Amino acid sequence: MRKKVTVVGGGNVGATTAQRLVDSGLADVVLTDILDGVPTGKALDMLESAPISGASVSAKGISTGTGDYKETENSDIVVVTAGFPRKAGMSRDDLLKANYEVIKGVVEPIVKLSPNAILIVVTNPLDVMTQAAFKISGFPKHRVMGMAGVLDSARMAAFISMELNVSVENISCFVLGGHGDDMVPLPRYSTVAGIPLPDLLPKERVEAIVQRTRKGGGEIVNYLKTGSAYYAPSAAAFAMCEAILKDKKKIMPCAAYLEGEYGVKGLFVGVPCKLGARGIEQIVEIKLTTEEKAALEKSAASVRELVGILGL
Ligand code: LAC
Repeated sequence: MRKKVTVVGGGNVGATTAQRLVDSGLADVVLTDILDGVPTGKALDMLESAPISGASVSAKGISTGTGDYKETENSDIVVVTAGFPRKAGMSRDDLLKANYEVIKGVVEPIVKLSPNAILIVVTNPLDVMTQAAFKISGFPKHRVMGMAGVLDSARMAAFISMELNVSVENISCFVLGGHGDDMVPLPRYSTVAGIPLPDLLPKERVEAIVQRTRKGGGEIVNYLKTGSAYYAPSAAAFAMCEAILKDKKKIMPCAAYLEGEYGVKGLFVGVPCKLGARGIEQIVEIKLTTEEKAALEKSAASVRELVGILGL
């Protein structure tokens, strides 16, 4: 039987994720939005591209403005992108309370209809919204995760590729922590053809790449003015879906619920996870230097503060 993926939120990130899924032919796709007509039109448009791409899957868009999520029933994966986007000058955290209400309104009906689904949260502030989805769903921790590390690592890899004029295929990057300005890119574990970044670039260039990675989301917001990034975020969400749908056992940085790993307890923070058919099948722990550990603790503390505001 074909797999089914629901993408909640028909905005730029959601629709582009849905389109990548349809193009891949990996699953039937349901796109939902509270707006009337928009998800239906976008999904139909995607479906009409399938004869060209050769993808034998269905795509359906539904408006959930009435609270009816029936079409999403028995989804294998639900990607949650619904929420208010960041505007220029606005931090991810400003979105906190507004988007908590959005997550609540969406996750409750969705999990009733798809009790075995894997939830991938994309809504910002990412780690906190993932924690909210975890609490609201009551799902086991391996079936709830947040998309951020794949995006942040991709940004870092893109910057290294530009700096060294080398193929992105040679680059593997590693970013830990929350999806905020104090995320923790790890140059030591970021490699070009297996060579650690600090062996290839002077310290100040490495530091510049780290800082640009941290502010990568904001850089795009500043250009777009009225919205945030969606090509790279949707590519990251799709890559996580693909790893799960194909049971790849691929190690990818994701926001995962930690219970002591990396010294963090009861909190979603970005760490390397093995993704397969069961969701997060393993959290991979690596040794950190004192400095890296302190940076991760600082990042986790920012997430914890917001989680505290929402009482999660
Ligand atoms: C970004 C937003 C999606 O990093 O958080 O682009």
